[in-house]
Amino acid sequence: MTAQIGTPPVRHSGGTPLLEIVDLEQRFPISRGLFRAPVDFVHAVDGISFEIAQGESLGLVGESGCGKSTTGRMLVKLMEPTSGSIMFRDGDYERDVANVTGSEVKQFRRRVQMIFQDPYESMNPRRTIFDTISEPLAVQKVGTVPEREERVLELLRLVGLTPPENFLFRYPHELSGGQRQRVAVARALVMNPSFVVADEPTSMLDVSIRISIMELMTKLARELGVSYLYITHDLAVARYMCERIAVMYLGKIVEIGPTEEILNNPRHPYTKALLSAVPVPDPSIRRTPVEIKGGISKAINPPPECRFIERCPFAAEVCRTNPHPPLEQQGDRHFVACYRASEIADINPLKQIEESMEAARPAAG
Ligand SMILES: Nc1ncnc2c1ncn2[C@@H]1O[C@H](COP(=O)(O)OP(=O)(O)OP(=O)(O)O)[C@@H](O)[C@H]1O
Ligand SMILES: [Mg+2]
Repeated sequence: MTAQIGTPPVRHSGGTPLLEIVDLEQRFPISRGLFRAPVDFVHAVDGISFEIAQGESLGLVGESGCGKSTTGRMLVKLMEPTSGSIMFRDGDYERDVANVTGSEVKQFRRRVQMIFQDPYESMNPRRTIFDTISEPLAVQKVGTVPEREERVLELLRLVGLTPPENFLFRYPHELSGGQRQRVAVARALVMNPSFVVADEPTSMLDVSIRISIMELMTKLARELGVSYLYITHDLAVARYMCERIAVMYLGKIVEIGPTEEILNNPRHPYTKALLSAVPVPDPSIRRTPVEIKGGISKAINPPPECRFIERCPFAAEVCRTNPHPPLEQQGDRHFVACYRASEIADINPLKQIEESMEAARPAAG
């Protein structure tokens, strides 16, 4: 199957879109001297298009520096995009928020929130939990102080910090990491947002606490109908949290589709390599690892051909003589940016691991 006609293409979520992102770009100038105009640019996000449906969680996965946080920050207007559009449709509110300014930004911010990796860094240590959670209400001038207190108590209950009265006037340093991240979740939900960007919200927590925060966030997504962009470099986390996954490599989305489809039928060499790196308990298990060459690089003035070419074990002439491949449809809501995707479709790291474990299992009886 080939891509649908019409450029730039939008990756279909299958639901009613809350966000439709088209050709979003962020370029950072690299200064070569105090008085010299920048000649080089990091193409941190390089023309990405996708959508997020109402109530959907989309995982954004990729190695360090590929542009995940930059994408998340642009979607909640913590950063202006260099170009592109972000169509946001939420009830009566319908706007391309990429270019809104001034009071319109404030209006938009009522509907979106961001949760950061380190809850401690995103909280003022001198402010109580009540101040921290109710801050968006204060900034947006919503409700009286007693009403805000009521709302904060309700949220503390919702995120499992009970009895809530015991937490209201404590300070961030008096809480554990997991409790602080619960406060960050409560703060993100205080304005009833329809969209939350969660940027590696569990990566600094202990494994046991990580799971409880993930459970909390999925429960809230289901109950409150919030859509998430869930940023992580851990595919297992994305599998747990997200209905669809977008795989990013140096500023480009190279593969996007339903979670199980991406994991069971990865088509891009980079996704296959990520899955090859999944640890296996038994070292004798056979698999053909998809190994990528070299280390993490930066997208500084990138050449026009495939962004992954330098590290790709399957790179061929077609990849060298053509521009970066467009995302093409390869299955149900599954899109891949690789000229050789069909030829290498059979290389499937997770399937190999499962088959090998099956073969190694002693026969019953
Ligand atoms: N304010 C900035 N000025 C210049 N370059 C930046 C800026 N912010 C990010 N970058 C660069 O843009 C690229 C993408 O960064 P980004 O933080 O979005 O990556 P990431 O995928 O979130 O990585 P990580 O997994 O490490 O958090 C990187 O090369 C980074 O160095
Ligand atoms: Mg980041």
